[in-house]
Amino acid sequence: MNSRAERGRFITVEGTEGVGKSSNIAFIRERLQQAGIDVVATREPGGTKLGEEVRELLLDHRHNEMSSDAELLLMFAARAQHIEQVILPALSNGQWVLCDRFTDATYAYQGGGRGILFERIATLEQWVQGTLRPDYTVLLDLPVEIGLARASERGVADRFEKEQQTFFEQVRSAYLAQAESAPERYRIIDASCPLDEVQQQLGAVLQTIINEAVA
Ligand code: TMP
Repeated sequence: MNSRAERGRFITVEGTEGVGKSSNIAFIRERLQQAGIDVVATREPGGTKLGEEVRELLLDHRHNEMSSDAELLLMFAARAQHIEQVILPALSNGQWVLCDRFTDATYAYQGGGRGILFERIATLEQWVQGTLRPDYTVLLDLPVEIGLARASERGVADRFEKEQQTFFEQVRSAYLAQAESAPERYRIIDASCPLDEVQQQLGAVLQTIINEAVA
């Protein structure tokens, strides 16, 4: 371990249900590795032993009575552990962190979807993350009805997946609004294309990110 290594980059991947996050994250990881980058791939909620247990609580139908505030706080509890145990150590070790969802998902789902005030989320973000923010956020964007049709082929729906289309419309709008307000960080990918075209878009985005890092 080299404590003086240049800080790694923090890339997050976001989107509503059925946008193809898993296969596209695998593609991103591979591209970065091909460029000689040491990548730590992780996810939220989860990424640590504690976080994965919190994830189970969050996704479990038996907790349908969970209040929106409890849901919000559990997201940040898992995140606090993830940041301390995985994200910050990797970044300061010069590794790049590729994270399947992060706080933009909280603004989109708990803010846009559940209606929690963005100011409340911002307070927790500041408390739990300090100055840590993603360097780049890839938003896989897709009309909600297409994503839900794709996701329905995956078997049993979790506590979020069973939400109605209007909920996911609000989530998508919140993501698009965030992308508009932070264009320097966001890279929007049209995920309605066939997979090879989505990957072409991703490949171009990754090339610019890699070029910026070595510049
Ligand atoms: P996943 O299915 O993409 O792994 O994510 C699990 C669910 O958690 C997904 O429906 C989105 C939701 N989620 C939130 O509601 N808020 C958050 O902050 C995060 C990270 C995920």
